[in-house]
Amino acid sequence: MDKLIIDGGQALKGVIRISGSKNAALPVLFAALMADGDVILENVPGLRDIHTTLKLLTLLGCDSRFRGEYVEVRAGDLVPEAPYDLVRTMRASVLCLGPLLAKLGRARVALPGGCAIGSRPVDLHLRALEQMGARFDLDSGYIMGTCQRLKGAHIIFDFPTVGGTENLLMAASLADGETVLENSAREPEVVDLANFLNACGARITGQGTSVITIKGVSSLKGCRYRVMSDRIEAGTYMVAGAITQGDLVLSNCPFEELEAVVAKLREMGVHIEKEKSGIRVKPNGQLNCVDLVTLPYPGFPTDMQAQIMALMCVADGSGMIKETIFENRFMHALELIRMGARIKLSGQTAMIRGGARLTGAPVMASDLRASASLVLAGLAARGRTEVRRIYHLDRGYESMEQKLSAVGARISREKE
Ligand code: UD1
Repeated sequence: MDKLIIDGGQALKGVIRISGSKNAALPVLFAALMADGDVILENVPGLRDIHTTLKLLTLLGCDSRFRGEYVEVRAGDLVPEAPYDLVRTMRASVLCLGPLLAKLGRARVALPGGCAIGSRPVDLHLRALEQMGARFDLDSGYIMGTCQRLKGAHIIFDFPTVGGTENLLMAASLADGETVLENSAREPEVVDLANFLNACGARITGQGTSVITIKGVSSLKGCRYRVMSDRIEAGTYMVAGAITQGDLVLSNCPFEELEAVVAKLREMGVHIEKEKSGIRVKPNGQLNCVDLVTLPYPGFPTDMQAQIMALMCVADGSGMIKETIFENRFMHALELIRMGARIKLSGQTAMIRGGARLTGAPVMASDLRASASLVLAGLAARGRTEVRRIYHLDRGYESMEQKLSAVGARISREKE
């Protein structure tokens, strides 16, 4: 297992290129299952979750090739089974359920278990697919789904679930008749998936709002599509610039999609502007803490909560973070405390007393964004930080140590 060694205290200066979005590329890859022709995707990040998805697509009967930032997928004779060994390493595997049911009328997909950031059930996905005519049984830890051709339905989600909205967008694209999804997720990655499906011949409108209408079509064709850039990776490097009192330019960077994050960082005193070459991030002297609540898009993203907590630890004053999307998503706080942070946890709320002088320490990463938060703290800390179990980081951040060292960080990877 690898670990990252960081000698903190360097102001980061220079340009970081943001990669394609993991959370947009994953559903788009699963949607490629449904296309009758070749799908060519651009701006796909070289991440472990992408490789896992390509492995799963191979087992499901697709040919794929990954070169540079390009992925080519050609669906062949599909096999409707997603085995536990792959699903347990990546919960997003459940996104093959909608496409398989729509295309084959059956699917056997391992039920993803709990994960470090909470129980994360898929009940909303299943209930909505049932409304379209699917039947589900649980057999030896597998969800067994069957249906005739799925039928359009009027679905009101109890919660704007991102994965649930994506599964339904895919399923409804090949269904018989019109589906209306109410209280659906408005995340930019959902919009990207809808745009990709439309490029394949689907008839989706309303993406980006909470009511999405999908008119089913009888088949989808292949297409060439550029996946959006990663707004969470971009937000993470914005915090890296701010926490080291640096001066960074982020190229290939989404901006409008980061509005809530940019607004909070500006409130903390970070100067963020769109320039010709990219998004420039430069703190205006000492920063101050703020209060924030994580919410579905367009609210502040839960996937940026851990990183902004690291920044608040070194800012002036005190602030409160309330996590409303996932239970148990404060594990990074306990590790930050080991580096000198002053954080009090109470249920889903964290109180941060800023002004901490962080010192390097050996810390343990527990999930993807928690790992990023510890790297950020390490960049700001005095002395050496060792971030262990970084396989989480490799799931979601492409070449993180190379990108950071190119702008002046002293960071390297070692075998544990
Ligand atoms: C996606 C993102 C993840 C992000 C999250 C919220 C991907 C691959 N992952 O995850 O990075 O943190 O959106 O922005 O895109 N829930 C249920 N029942 C369900 C579905 C969800 O109770 O059937 C609950 C979950 O347990 C969680 C909340 O709803 O507490 C949000 O989940 P959801 O929006 O579905 O997130 P994911 O698609 O899993």
